Amino acid sequence: MIEFQQVSKTFDNWKAVDDLNLRLNAGDFTVLIGPSGSGKSTTLKMINRLVEHDSGRILFAGKEIRSFKEEDIRRRMGYAIQSIGLFPHWTVEQNIATVPALLKWPKARVAERVTELLTLLNLEPARYRQRYPHQLSGGQQQRVGVARALAADPEVLLMDEPFGALDPVTRSALQAEIARIHKASGKTIVLVTHDIDEALLLADRIVLLDKGRIAQVGTPFEILAHPASDFVTEFVGRSEVGIKLLGLDTVGARVRKGQSATGEPLPISATLREALSAFVARRASSLPVVDAQGQPVGALHFADLLDEQA
Ligand SMILES: Nc1ncnc2c1ncn2[C@@H]1O[C@H](COP(=O)(O)OP(=O)(O)O)[C@@H](O)[C@H]1O
Ligand SMILES: [Mg+2]
Repeated sequence: MIEFQQVSKTFDNWKAVDDLNLRLNAGDFTVLIGPSGSGKSTTLKMINRLVEHDSGRILFAGKEIRSFKEEDIRRRMGYAIQSIGLFPHWTVEQNIATVPALLKWPKARVAERVTELLTLLNLEPARYRQRYPHQLSGGQQQRVGVARALAADPEVLLMDEPFGALDPVTRSALQAEIARIHKASGKTIVLVTHDIDEALLLADRIVLLDKGRIAQVGTPFEILAHPASDFVTEFVGRSEVGIKLLGLDTVGARVRKGQSATGEPLPISATLREALSAFVARRASSLPVVDAQGQPVGALHFADLLDEQA
């Protein structure tokens, strides 16, 4: 879908991106992560040509990105950033409609799409469409930023620390929404973050950058369980690897179906990390497991947390 072949970008003698080789598959949720200045934003912006690469090739749908018309790139790739970049003198509706307006969609279709997107991102359309950005909370502005990126139903969604400045509750609500949108739409998503927990939560594949080079590419499990270098180990956080590994799997993967246990039940969708917390807090070595309707499914034993992971 998107492929970097020996791509470099230099700013004032500094190699922001250094010989990058990377393939991003259609439908994958890829997270670019790394310390500040490691080249994440530059990599992302080279995909939609906000930054032009100096050397190498970047292919999108098999063609060098330079050969696309600007308008086609705006239509086929949505872009959302932390600083939001909403136009302050435009309403929410006008902001979301930026790309559709550029593409000259009929008014009725634009209005319908705005309604659909506001609903998707949990902003009541009648209440919010005519507001201006300064009349919204930070979290609501971020939602509008994501809605704007999705407006023309792009094939690719590029997001640069979209939840950066949010409080933890709003942040985790928006993370859940993006995960849901990815599941429902199968879009190719590339998200930049410096937060390892966000990466572990959202990514199909993590690309860890260090000084413009790839330190490791892998699934969250591979990155946690088989770090390629000391840098990766340090970045992931040496102390809580076990806990983070438990965060990758759900109770459903380990439940002993049909067994019973006593105590306050665990939802089948809870992570094993949450299950560990429940075992300790409830001083239990086994707990009943229930499905989304609250019906009993089986039991989870404390020792099941130690099973070999996939
Ligand atoms: N427009 C620019 N002009 C000069 N240097 C830049 C520019 N954009 C990025 N850089 C430099 O390139 C390096 C990588 O930046 P960036 O990709 O923004 O990193 P990250 O997003 O990982 O924090 C940094 O050293 C940064 O200072
Ligand atoms: Mg950045």
